[in-house]
Amino acid sequence: MDLGLKGRSAVVMAASKGLGKAAARALAAEGCRVAISARHAETLTAAAREIEQQYGVEVVPVAGDVRNPRDIQTLIDSAAREFGGVDILVTNAGGPPVRTFEDSTDEEWREWYDITFLSVVRSVRAALPHLKKSGRGRIINITSSSVKAPIESLVYSNALRLAVVGLAKTLSRELGPHGITVHNVAPGYHLTDGLERIIVNKMQQGLRREQVLESWSRSIPVGRIGRPEDLGALIAWLAGDQASYLNGTTIPVDGGLYPGVM
Ligand SMILES: NC(=O)c1ccc[n+]([C@@H]2O[C@H](COP(=O)([O-])OP(=O)(O)OC[C@H]3O[C@@H](n4cnc5c(N)ncnc54)[C@H](OP(=O)(O)O)[C@@H]3O)[C@@H](O)[C@H]2O)c1
Repeated sequence: MDLGLKGRSAVVMAASKGLGKAAARALAAEGCRVAISARHAETLTAAAREIEQQYGVEVVPVAGDVRNPRDIQTLIDSAAREFGGVDILVTNAGGPPVRTFEDSTDEEWREWYDITFLSVVRSVRAALPHLKKSGRGRIINITSSSVKAPIESLVYSNALRLAVVGLAKTLSRELGPHGITVHNVAPGYHLTDGLERIIVNKMQQGLRREQVLESWSRSIPVGRIGRPEDLGALIAWLAGDQASYLNGTTIPVDGGLYPGVM
């Protein structure tokens, strides 16, 4: 299936590893030019070179922190300058730490509000003139299955990501008339460095790595942990022409883990 993405330009935030990188890879595989960001320039540049060599499209690394509004503006400006516009914005950031409500602090609430929510507000604001010009813009937010069902001891993710979902639905209504569609993808367990940190936390509670993975796999109807490319494939499809009548959705990618009907 040709998704119609050849020659389009995309920005993927927090994309030197894990789910962000898988999104960048899936878009590049469809012929998109991609600008990617992350804080550590060396890993970011290596990821950009790897994707570029694999798919033969331009991949521009722009080092920066999603906490910093100037870095976000620089990322979007660089993509617009290099590619002549921005058609697709994929928002993403590092995941909040393991905390219960009683372990949470005001300082951390503010920090993770900036990283999880304000980074989306700021990147959409910076990309909007370009997305409007595109006429078929896409905004796709990488959130978490925590927006469908809270995850034990991830209080910042459980609470703050719902603000992203509310924002996205609002944007889908405000920006639809400009040809821009807006979605959230809600990953369940996917094997990345981010998930490894949660596994290490469980190991500190006395479990073995295999026990953690086995118990998660048993709870997932398809019987396995996700691969980053499982999410990347959906993001590329949502960015493509066939998805032009989908707008304002939040789609779980969790092997059926979420048990609710809707
Ligand atoms: N993997 C899962 O199972 C899963 C499930 C549900 C939700 N999620 C969520 O999906 C997102 C991505 O998860 P992941 O598993 O792919 O994480 P990951 O493997 O840890 O990768 C995170 C990526 O984000 C970059 N990053 C982190 N903090 C950043 C910041 N402040 N500014 C710019 N870039 C930043 C990292 O590079 P630098 O360190 O160089 O900045 C890296 O490229 C997280 O929010 C996570 O909570 C993941």
